[in-house]
Amino acid sequence: MEQIIANMQGVPDLLLKYNRQGPRYTSYPPATSFHNRYKPKDYKEHLIASNIRGDKNISVYIHIPFCFQRCCFCGCNSSLFENNDLLESYMAALLKEIETVTGLLDTSHRPLTQIHWGGGTPNMLSTSLIERVMDFFATNYNISTTAEISIECNPAYLDYDYVRFLAKTGFNRISLGIQDFDPKVLKAANRLPSKLPIGELFGILRNENFEEINLDFIYGLPYQTSESFRETLLKAVDLSPDRIVTFSYAHVPWLMPEQKKMEHFGLPDPNEKLAIFLAGFQALVSSGYQTIGLDHFAKPDDKISLALKNKKLHRNFQGYCTKETTGQVYAFGSSAISQLWNAYSQNIKPVKHYIDSIESTQFAVDRGYELSSDEMVCSTVINSIMCNGFVNFRQVADMFGLTASDVVGITGYKPERIQEFIDDGLISVFDDHIEINQTGMMIARNIAMVFDPQLSIQENKYSKTI
Ligand SMILES: C[S@@+](CC[C@H](N)C(=O)[O-])C[C@H]1O[C@@H](n2cnc3c(N)ncnc32)[C@H](O)[C@@H]1O
Ligand code: SF4
Repeated sequence: MEQIIANMQGVPDLLLKYNRQGPRYTSYPPATSFHNRYKPKDYKEHLIASNIRGDKNISVYIHIPFCFQRCCFCGCNSSLFENNDLLESYMAALLKEIETVTGLLDTSHRPLTQIHWGGGTPNMLSTSLIERVMDFFATNYNISTTAEISIECNPAYLDYDYVRFLAKTGFNRISLGIQDFDPKVLKAANRLPSKLPIGELFGILRNENFEEINLDFIYGLPYQTSESFRETLLKAVDLSPDRIVTFSYAHVPWLMPEQKKMEHFGLPDPNEKLAIFLAGFQALVSSGYQTIGLDHFAKPDDKISLALKNKKLHRNFQGYCTKETTGQVYAFGSSAISQLWNAYSQNIKPVKHYIDSIESTQFAVDRGYELSSDEMVCSTVINSIMCNGFVNFRQVADMFGLTASDVVGITGYKPERIQEFIDDGLISVFDDHIEINQTGMMIARNIAMVFDPQLSIQENKYSKTI
């Protein structure tokens, strides 16, 4: 722990140096490569094939796009709640989509190991709407006894009865969007604070035996300073959550025009933003949290910290996970992205188009991507770098019946492209593998870019690293 803090010297310069535009690599190829030549018939074929190829485990993602109030910073696929009729039509379409896909899956031989509700604000739903969907899964799937059942919640709409309902319905993980504890920051972002005092909410969640509580924060918002963000994170540490995420605020007003509203309050400049990030980073590391990549932190005995130690960490669009529990991801709802063995399929984003498409054709595929065998190799390499800071060319080669030099050739890796990282003391290169150290993991995204043969940086296509 002390070692990391001592090593913080020079880190700001390093992060500024590598603060370049690039993909986040939540998937490979990144979602920006998905195209609309990918059709519902392709998705259907990949759904059927997923029963015999790839992970046996089934993970499901349910997207609820609605929010009662829009936060100015929001970069998520969400929209303002309009009325109950639209919500009812959306939920009917969602259930229809779930039924259609379920009809193509071998649910009797494949366990359901993860159910994740995200948004938007899933906890804006009435308990009966959530129950309707959960009952369907309970009846039609083989839910594993150790399944991770999680929900993203905005604490502005959480009370005792709702938490009790979630626990009773089988939810055992929760992610709370705190963003910042400072009311001034929240007000500038048009966001309400937690309905219950946060300590009380934690007490209720622990009483109801939630196994894992995650807190989300964002840095780079108006009125945030290093000191204020440090205080916010130390307040979080006092609550002892299992995981904490500090997202870098992605300011992309050309895509999200509402973000422009915050420019009026003044956004921290890149140096200030970096200082805010580092203050938060130090607060969490010195409080005993293990860093996972650049912006995730977990208690040292958390499953994902242990998976990182054993180089077994995995990641999907829902966040970090372990290879044991995650499976192929079947995603439902507007904008939701399914991640199958060799394909991604993303649904239509506008809520009304999504409903119309499901009602008329049963599917709502907007775009997607079928990976070639070479792209699956690159995906494995990049995932290994982003999650575990490690890549063993021979191991990857064995997975695909190739040689280590085939893997090197496919990724387009050239030793001169990593020289900069070696000179900066961020990575070590061995005969058949590469290892990134803890400081290097802060710029894992830049290192992963070296193994991406498709990369061409276009102005304003991607946000910056920090
Ligand atoms: C899908 S959102 C849903 C969370 C929930 N609706 C809430 O706000 O509490 C998940 C997280 O994404 C993060 N986020 C949203 N917009 C962002 C942006 N523009 N840049 C970085 N992170 C963002 C927030 O921290 C948020 O908690
Ligand atoms: S941050 Fe969460 S609550 Fe705010 S608009 Fe986005 S999805 Fe909705």
